[in-house]
Amino acid sequence: MELLYEGKAKRIYSTKHQDEVICEFKDSLTAFNGEKKDTQKGKGALNLAITTLIFQELEKAGIPTHLIRKLDNTKQLVKKCEIILIEVVVRNIAAGSLAKRLGLKEGERLPFTIVEFYYKKDELNDPLINDDHAMILNLVKDRKELELLREYGKKINTFLIDFFDKAGMTLVDFKVEFGRDAKGNIILADEITPDSCRLWDKKTGKKLDKDIFRQDLGDLMSAYKEVLQRISQ
Ligand code: TMP
Repeated sequence: MELLYEGKAKRIYSTKHQDEVICEFKDSLTAFNGEKKDTQKGKGALNLAITTLIFQELEKAGIPTHLIRKLDNTKQLVKKCEIILIEVVVRNIAAGSLAKRLGLKEGERLPFTIVEFYYKKDELNDPLINDDHAMILNLVKDRKELELLREYGKKINTFLIDFFDKAGMTLVDFKVEFGRDAKGNIILADEITPDSCRLWDKKTGKKLDKDIFRQDLGDLMSAYKEVLQRISQ
């Protein structure tokens, strides 16, 4: 196993098969583009369990993903793909950077679901971009691919709203990333976890996601454990 890449939350290793890589989830936590850092023992394992379950369900619902199978507590085997440098953010309720940028109140339900694109580039602090920006940066082949990213984002949203609702949680917003596999197909990659979603308890509004860390709201691990336990039932 050769280490191919190490990011803030994951390590990617090569395998004997050139179309497959191993993705290891780390225990590290970052926020605000890496300015705020921490480590929580066992967080990688919790996130791996959560994302594996969700990706398996999304596959069944017709969304192609990179997941092949879970290997152990912190590693999964995935299809090797070239990551598209766009973070696709889908929002149902105002929070985070949207609330701040547009002066909306956190918790305000949006009149309709919105999809945003961010340019995945740490040096620039992942700026918000529009379709023209994505085109001039050659982040996709054509505008049809941007439409596909939007469609997948909305389809994933529709699935996740119901999935989390059944587990007693409100899906506020989330971020997904896509890659191009060996055949050139666009597939869902990266993760869907409480690191990449905002999830509020349906009854109490209690935050069950990385905002606990961003805003110093208390015990992150017990919230992540609760998310896993609720979606596993
Ligand atoms: P934002 O409100 O900070 O823009 O975040 C929107 C959603 O995207 C939220 O669920 C957290 C997620 N997100 C990530 O997963 N990674 C990131 O780097 C950022 C900025 C947001």
